[in-house]
Amino acid sequence: MKFDLKGFIAPGSEEEALVRQLDPSRLPQHVAVIMDGNGRWAEKRKKPRIEGHRAGSKAVQEVVEACARLGIRVLTLYAFSKENWKRPKREVARLWRLLEDYLQKQDKQLIKNKIRLIVIGQREGIPGSVERELERVETLTRAHDGLTVVLALNYSGRSEIVDAIKRILQSPGVNPESLDEAEFARHLDTAGIPDPDLLIRTSGELRISNFLLWQIAYSEIWITPVLWPDFRRREFLRALLDFQKRERRFGAVHARSSENA
Ligand code: FPP
Repeated sequence: MKFDLKGFIAPGSEEEALVRQLDPSRLPQHVAVIMDGNGRWAEKRKKPRIEGHRAGSKAVQEVVEACARLGIRVLTLYAFSKENWKRPKREVARLWRLLEDYLQKQDKQLIKNKIRLIVIGQREGIPGSVERELERVETLTRAHDGLTVVLALNYSGRSEIVDAIKRILQSPGVNPESLDEAEFARHLDTAGIPDPDLLIRTSGELRISNFLLWQIAYSEIWITPVLWPDFRRREFLRALLDFQKRERRFGAVHARSSENA
């Protein structure tokens, strides 16, 4: 299999050299991203924080396109955590407005590239107009079989686990004996979505910040000092190349080491 790079990556560019090193058969199926550093990006430029989020939405567009072009199946973006409500009211309102704008403007791109959009997190609390827009785009893209973009909105990994437990306790005929990890995962917001193979965090913080706590048990982690608005195709390709150098053991030993047990 070869990548279709026409109109996406300029011939002779550094990005093209990076793509050439990628092994198409060993791409992560699911990439999850903690997009961090929008505020610092804006502060460095003496601009209001919302300008950092606006520049961040350009990076979102670029990474979504890169995933679709490369054939990655799922991209999960941590766009608004439950903890983000603690920010100044004005920043929160502008962030939701930005998201709504993004959905309104991007729907044609989603259709053209057969991208499916789904949302995880708690619906209650999301402003009504954003909720309606999310439902519209989820419905519009439901049958798409290309990249799935999962937006984590009003999301908290711990709340997701508690909500899953509540759903299990409310299911008729619940039997503790037969509950296993696979059954538990079917009650999470991410039911049916494979766990992330690669977790990316920008802006250099060494934290998980309550993101996909159950699902990242065996994810490979890539942390870069680059601030999210500066995280463009080239950075993303570097993360993918690094992922391909990792040896994923899922708790077992390397094949060679088992001969020396
Ligand atoms: C973290 O940076 C980023 C967020 C809380 C919001 C992420 C939102 C976007 C990238 C914009 C729109 C999203 C989509 C999906 C279109 P921060 O503000 O915490 O940065 P800081 O740590 O430097 O203050």
